[in-house]
Amino acid sequence: MAPAFTLPSYSVGSVRVAPGLVLAPMSGVTDSPFRRLVKRCSGEHVGLVMSEFIQIEMLTRGQMMGAIRMAFDPSEHPIAIQLYGADPDMMADAAQMAEDAGADMIDINCGCPAPKICRRGGGAGLLRDLPRLASLLDAVTARVKIPVTIKIRNGWDDSSINAIDSLRVAEDHGAQAIALHGRTRVQLYTGLADWQAVAELKSRAKIPVLGSGDIVTPEDARERLRSGCDGLLIGRGAITNPWVFRQIAEAAQGKEPFQPTWRDVIDALRFYVSLLHVHYPPRVAPGRMRMMLSRLLKGFPTDPGLRVRCLKMTDPIAMLDHMEAVATETGVIDRVRAADLESASDDPVDVASAA
Ligand SMILES: Cc1cc2nc3c(=O)[nH]c(=O)nc-3n(C[C@H](O)[C@H](O)[C@H](O)COP(=O)(O)O)c2cc1C
Repeated sequence: MAPAFTLPSYSVGSVRVAPGLVLAPMSGVTDSPFRRLVKRCSGEHVGLVMSEFIQIEMLTRGQMMGAIRMAFDPSEHPIAIQLYGADPDMMADAAQMAEDAGADMIDINCGCPAPKICRRGGGAGLLRDLPRLASLLDAVTARVKIPVTIKIRNGWDDSSINAIDSLRVAEDHGAQAIALHGRTRVQLYTGLADWQAVAELKSRAKIPVLGSGDIVTPEDARERLRSGCDGLLIGRGAITNPWVFRQIAEAAQGKEPFQPTWRDVIDALRFYVSLLHVHYPPRVAPGRMRMMLSRLLKGFPTDPGLRVRCLKMTDPIAMLDHMEAVATETGVIDRVRAADLESASDDPVDVASAA
């Protein structure tokens, strides 16, 4: 069958990202267990995974959570470790630690809207202080050999749109790719991301440009690729559907995209839960489990109260055993999840408020 659309690919230094489908960094979500879950579901169709952002102080002060956030499995390559902070020397030290740990790239977060982070000059605060971004890039690119990239928003607010200025700083100070989430800091996650801004950035850039925002289906991907960008970042779409990269790649090849059944969903959750147990101390794992179970069980047909009970759950394995038994008994185990999702009620867990 003839390909329906072409997926881009790009290189950052010696790292090839092919296809240009990237798991976006998401705080509280894209830890090693989640990244491996996405790789398990979407395989080679995920061109690059990104860590959740890591505070540079957490790494340089040797805090346990810093080490946990930076940990990854060899199966995750290529992987970008995302850092946030405002101090150039400390950023360089943290980048050095990521390089020593075997990361393929460093990404500097210039988009996090959290007031606490912006007030200290990090995250989207950097969009209001481009000289500081320049100093951070100078310090990091002087220290590490692996490529350095940045992820920005359109600007702080509608009256200070400055993505092109950020691009100039990136290019002049050694960044090798730039990702744009087409919203301002003030917009947070409201409205729709501005993909015209991604197209504009691409038309002015010498380095690869990636776009981020609101890609949930293969059709969304096809539409956003009209911007001419070199890659797509997929965030929330991968939380409810870690198969989305595979589905986009199959649709691009003109194939009918894979649709997971409830058995696939339960198997994926078992895999994820088993990794969480190994990755985290016991007090951290339950919160992440609840979030993912609640998202992936959306639409589970035989037990409408199940997702709400997930929020109170103490034993995820028992819950998955229960689900599997009910799904087998009622014959829904081999039913495709997509149809049930359409009629599902709203989500009790608001992930967007987490970042
Ligand atoms: C829960 C959550 C956490 C996020 N954490 C980060 C982060 O750590 N670093 C970052 O650059 N962007 C972060 N983002 C922004 C995403 O990477 C992405 O740009 C944004 O969600 C838009 O893409 P989407 O519509 O595909 O989710 C986060 C978004 C969400 C929803």
